[in-house]
Amino acid sequence: MSPTHKTVLITGCSTGIGASLVRTFASHINPKTTVYATARNLSSLKQFADLPNVHCFALDVTSTVSVQACVEAVEKHILSTSKEHGNENGSGGLDYVINNAGMGYDMPVLDIDIEEAKKVYETNVWGVLRVVQGVSGMLVKAHGTVVVVGTAFAWMSWPFKAVYSTSKASTTLLAETLRLELAPLGVNVLTIATTGIASNFLGKLADSKLPPTSLYREIETQFRSSAVMSGTELMATDKYTAQVVEDVLGGKKGIVWRGASAFAARLAVAGWLPQWVVVSTPFFFICFLFLGYGTFGGLLLGKG
Ligand SMILES: NC(=O)c1ccc[n+]([C@@H]2O[C@H](COP(=O)([O-])OP(=O)(O)OC[C@H]3O[C@@H](n4cnc5c(N)ncnc54)[C@H](OP(=O)(O)O)[C@@H]3O)[C@@H](O)[C@H]2O)c1
Repeated sequence: MSPTHKTVLITGCSTGIGASLVRTFASHINPKTTVYATARNLSSLKQFADLPNVHCFALDVTSTVSVQACVEAVEKHILSTSKEHGNENGSGGLDYVINNAGMGYDMPVLDIDIEEAKKVYETNVWGVLRVVQGVSGMLVKAHGTVVVVGTAFAWMSWPFKAVYSTSKASTTLLAETLRLELAPLGVNVLTIATTGIASNFLGKLADSKLPPTSLYREIETQFRSSAVMSGTELMATDKYTAQVVEDVLGGKKGIVWRGASAFAARLAVAGWLPQWVVVSTPFFFICFLFLGYGTFGGLLLGKG
């Protein structure tokens, strides 16, 4: 593709960060971008009907068949439009793939339903790998960039978020390894370590239910409110995606921190904050949930 025109494929564009990334990339003038917006449910992409440079395709990142069909359709479109975008050779390259699709799951470790946890890994880990493998040929042709929407939780042990954190930590290491392996092929890899964003991601976790046998039943209400991280500072989705698009188009590589209080989170994981501050934050958080709940608070404080 010519330097003034780029192509970008984004996963999970029905809502939140993905939908905002579509609009932000689509409105970029220099370089102009053709956006391939994808989602499990094609009808959720009707919201982009007013944007002529956005083309919509069905894509479920947990299905190899779906990924293959989407990749074929996108490649065909890139090839058929490459001349009008100034590429006489019609290379069929893809400049950026943004792995945004993801899901959460909140549960105390003792209560994790392994089948549910597998669904999270299927989306957050293998979904990213499946998509990257699918578009790798197109990325190499364009000397493109793999982008992974990661999370600060990949570096934190936070009560009830073990499945989400470990899945995203795996994806971050996968991406960082891929960065080394793809560098000789001229492909860049960027992970966005994301802190709180005002999408509905956390809201979807509000329905998390503890199993009847859970040792945490007495604090179920607090468990639910902790799932949605109520009281946490959040950044507006559009503000976040404007920064991410600048990072991507600016050629950033490695790990970049973005979102509310991203700088503080970066300091914490870099070991620049005293360890007691880093460790005591989630510790006090869970103590706070338990305090006032006689038996459990007492047990936790050694009074049982
Ligand atoms: N919001 C935050 O504070 C925050 C912080 C750190 C990282 N992140 C990450 O940001 C990304 C986007 O989240 P968001 O905040 O925008 O939440 P969101 O609104 O819930 O978006 C999640 C998106 O992923 C899609 N998705 C889920 N499973 C999929 C699958 N199998 N195939 C294709 N798409 C699938 C969803 O599509 P459906 O509509 O079909 O379900 C939805 O479009 C996630 O990877 C999340 O981990 C978010």
